Amino acid sequence: MTASIIDGKAFAAGLRARVGERVAAFVAQAGRAPGLAVVLVGEDSASAVYVRNKGRATREAGMVSVEHRLPADVPQDALIDLVDALNADPAIDGILVQLPLPPHIDERAVLIRIDPDKDVDGFHPVNAGRLATGLPGFVPCTPLGCLMLLKDQLGDLSGLDAVVIGRSNIVGKPMAQLLIAESCTVTVAHSRTRDLSSVVKRADIVVAAVGRAQMIKGEWLKPGATVIDVGINRTPEGLVGDVDFAGAMGVASAVTPVPGGVGPMTIACLLRNALISAERREG
Ligand code: GUN
Repeated sequence: MTASIIDGKAFAAGLRARVGERVAAFVAQAGRAPGLAVVLVGEDSASAVYVRNKGRATREAGMVSVEHRLPADVPQDALIDLVDALNADPAIDGILVQLPLPPHIDERAVLIRIDPDKDVDGFHPVNAGRLATGLPGFVPCTPLGCLMLLKDQLGDLSGLDAVVIGRSNIVGKPMAQLLIAESCTVTVAHSRTRDLSSVVKRADIVVAAVGRAQMIKGEWLKPGATVIDVGINRTPEGLVGDVDFAGAMGVASAVTPVPGGVGPMTIACLLRNALISAERREG
């Protein structure tokens, strides 16, 4: 049996088109376009590429992209002053501070300063709390994109065994919350998990977000499992995920590729969150 490949790129293109249609309706009603501010500190080349792609996608969806580039040695107070100004700016519906920040800046102090109702990344503790308690808020873009792909693939997730590998605030923890809300039986595995292969073996759904190239082996999987690979690892052979893709294709029923799986969903969900913020703020 060969698994089907989950085409995240195509799904994301469809989502972006639907967001674009709603943006046009918003502009017609509100008389302004939704505004997304992206703050980049320093010269990290991967971050610069992400920020450029986010800006382009924002404009393609008909929204206003406002980019702020600050030098790597910017004082923390100056960054916080910028966040305060964006919080107060009525033309800005979403604020994203690109991570990682330079080591002299306390990431938490900056993220907690963002108005939770403009926090389109969903990283503010208020939004983490809303997600954990079932209140409307903003859900981090990568796990939200993973959930959309899973529901498109499987329909109702209720009662399925899901294993999330990774416990970060950005992916693992919110992913687990989303799957709990879908009535999955959720296990969160991480670097201290004993016998990871037997934990993975029982899962109908595997979400891998560990950041280690091809760590999850095909033979660990339950036959017919659905595998979502969040990993983006640069190796001499090119970009690979956290899952041994070729091995998984022989055992699973569906697998996301790297690249072209989860990656494109993250930006599409960011645009969706920015649109929803604008609609809520006008509504
Ligand atoms: N760095 C890598 N991914 C992300 C993301 O989704 N949001 C932000 N703000 N920074 C990131």
